[in-house]
Amino acid sequence: MPQTNHPPKLMLLGSGELGKEVAICAQRYGCTVVAVDNYAHAPAMQVADESVVLDMLDGKSLKKSVRKHQPDYLVPEVEAIRTEALLELEASGFNVIPSANAAHLTMNRDAIRSLAAEELGLPTARYAYATSESELEEAVDAKVGLPCVIKPVMSSSGKGQSVARTKKDLKTSWKHALAGMRGDTPVVIVEEFVKFDSEITLLTVKQRPEAASSSRRTLFVPPIGHRQERGDYQESWIPHPMKPSVLKQAQRMAKKVTDRLAGPNGAGLFGVEFFIRGEEVIFSELSPRPHDTGMVTMISQQLSEFELHLRAILGLPISSIKVERPSASAVILANRAKADAPRYQGLEDALDIPETDIRIFGKPNARKWRRMGVALSQGKTLAQARNRAKKAAASIRVL
Ligand SMILES: Nc1ncnc2c1ncn2[C@@H]1O[C@H](COP(=O)(O)OP(=O)(O)O)[C@@H](O)[C@H]1O
Ligand SMILES: [Mg+2]
Repeated sequence: MPQTNHPPKLMLLGSGELGKEVAICAQRYGCTVVAVDNYAHAPAMQVADESVVLDMLDGKSLKKSVRKHQPDYLVPEVEAIRTEALLELEASGFNVIPSANAAHLTMNRDAIRSLAAEELGLPTARYAYATSESELEEAVDAKVGLPCVIKPVMSSSGKGQSVARTKKDLKTSWKHALAGMRGDTPVVIVEEFVKFDSEITLLTVKQRPEAASSSRRTLFVPPIGHRQERGDYQESWIPHPMKPSVLKQAQRMAKKVTDRLAGPNGAGLFGVEFFIRGEEVIFSELSPRPHDTGMVTMISQQLSEFELHLRAILGLPISSIKVERPSASAVILANRAKADAPRYQGLEDALDIPETDIRIFGKPNARKWRRMGVALSQGKTLAQARNRAKKAAASIRVL
């Protein structure tokens, strides 16, 4: 930790449900927290020492606010940040987690994909980029084939993402991508649709080189399996059963990409996503911060992904990472069009389920499909844990 005469200060860039857990952990380890987002009363702001509402895509106001608050650690929690500002702030001495470069290269899907596939040689789905509907058609003809997945390079949580099964679908996909993208220059990535057997997140921790021996610089949490709908996560479970040789392959790939992104000194936790098809491991994408599917670690083990992130950031020891029991998470979604100050019904039923807990994120308003909370369960088996978490999530209604 930096040797200062005040408690270390974390500035969280993004204040959603993951940021809220990071803020709570940071405070438990003696830090103060400034929570930033583009709307007031965001989940992490409810527990932070101070909050700032600003447009994080506006580099000027972001830099001004960081310079004013002088945080010891600048902790990005979302993709939508003007990452050029982070590069500048890092160059002027601020400590960006895990590194400004990691945030910069993962802000756009094309930068991280080109790095993984072309520079590092990791296996990925066939892909191409397109800046118009006609380029999209050409890319599908020449390189990617059908069915394919179309995603704006600047988007997250399934926004603007669609699957095209025929050439005729590409028109709708292009329009959908335009409507769901961030920024004002349309670029999409079009990928071969991978018929995977399963998909996993490999939470990968980079410890500070001065805090761990070189063999423990990179640590892994057992694999998390998950299921997605509409490009958004619905349920996750741990430990996802995998053949040891296949898991080793995924770990080697995760180490390679996180080594590159963290650089020699970067520290923090990454969520590295893979598709598994037979014995094949296909790199998909990665977050240089806690991952939504990793919320299951709040019930599966002593050190959740948030605690691991904090310990890595602060250079505190991580003696072991062990999943205690098969565990699962299932998301609690809003089911109505729009509601301000939402209320929650059915907590009694959910918490009546054995070995089950819930987290309500406290978002100030709901809209259809918005993630409002998560149910967490343990079980004797993965199947039991998954059933419990799904049942608990389904018991809760957002009014
Ligand atoms: N090429 C693909 N083939 C099959 N499914 C895909 C492909 N790309 C994405 N998906 C599905 O969509 C989900 C979300 O896509 P992802 O690239 O992870 O975007 P996001 O940044 O929104 O999480 C994935 O977890 C996977 O289930
Ligand atoms: Mg993803």
